[in-house]
Amino acid sequence: MKESSWLNLPSLSLSVKSLFTGYIFVVGLGLMMAGGQIMLTHGMADGKFGLSVDDIVYSYYGNREGSKLESKLNGSMKDKATPKENLTMIKWAREGADETTWNSTIKPIVEAKCAICHAHISTLPNVTSYEDMKQIAAVDHGAEIGSLTRVSHIHLFGISFIFFFVGLIFSMAVGFRPWVKAAIIFVPFAFLILDIASWWLTKMNPGFAWLVIIGGFGYSIAAGVMLFTSLYQMWIMPMKGQTSEENTWKG
Ligand code: HEC
Repeated sequence: MKESSWLNLPSLSLSVKSLFTGYIFVVGLGLMMAGGQIMLTHGMADGKFGLSVDDIVYSYYGNREGSKLESKLNGSMKDKATPKENLTMIKWAREGADETTWNSTIKPIVEAKCAICHAHISTLPNVTSYEDMKQIAAVDHGAEIGSLTRVSHIHLFGISFIFFFVGLIFSMAVGFRPWVKAAIIFVPFAFLILDIASWWLTKMNPGFAWLVIIGGFGYSIAAGVMLFTSLYQMWIMPMKGQTSEENTWKG
């Protein structure tokens, strides 16, 4: 005879369901915010809206062909000064951005052509200051080791906490083959490690940028499956009269 159990999502008490549902709503909202933030920061790195492999390369590897100043003067800042002035600035950046040439040649150009925007809008770098400009004129090496370490450990601790509880709730889902359910629960952790590892790999070699995207999509999809399945089994299944006596935690 099959033993009867209430340890499955459709059979849980109203209070446990309400606890799980509140958590799922907040985590779902958090995941959407995270997606939006990625679009706004990394998504714009190559100057175009939307996330692409180029964005990942710019964010982690940088643009080692030249400086940020050079790519902007060939891109969105191209028409701010004359072509001759742009060339003078690019040449200055390539030759190491020394202070003597800055004072004699570059400062007058930026004060005439760039200051209207760049000295007054606080979100833009102040290109009339030598200190700021020196950084913009240096070769762009992408993410700094310090910030990569910080963001990596925050992600590893923070996101594993989220997946732990999402997986715990989903472990009470019914109707899955045991190994399929176990795999769905494990996949986000594996993709999380893959995602973080690929940030570091991309910093060293831009060829790994696509791994970052696969890692991120991988755990978003696995999380989505667990969140929607859990909601469905807690609320829709009992409404349809589908009950279960499966003991989901018994091996
Ligand atoms: C009409 C206003 C305006 C003028 C004039 C202007 N810029 Fe900009 N600049 C912007 C805006 C807005 C952005 C941010 C959007 C972007 O990156 O295209 C920006 C971005 C930049 C960036 C990238 C900053 C970063 O941290 O991503 C650099 C470098 C830059 N400008 C250099 C210059 C230089 C050099 C000049 C003068 C030749 C200049 N800009 C003139 C408005 C201006």
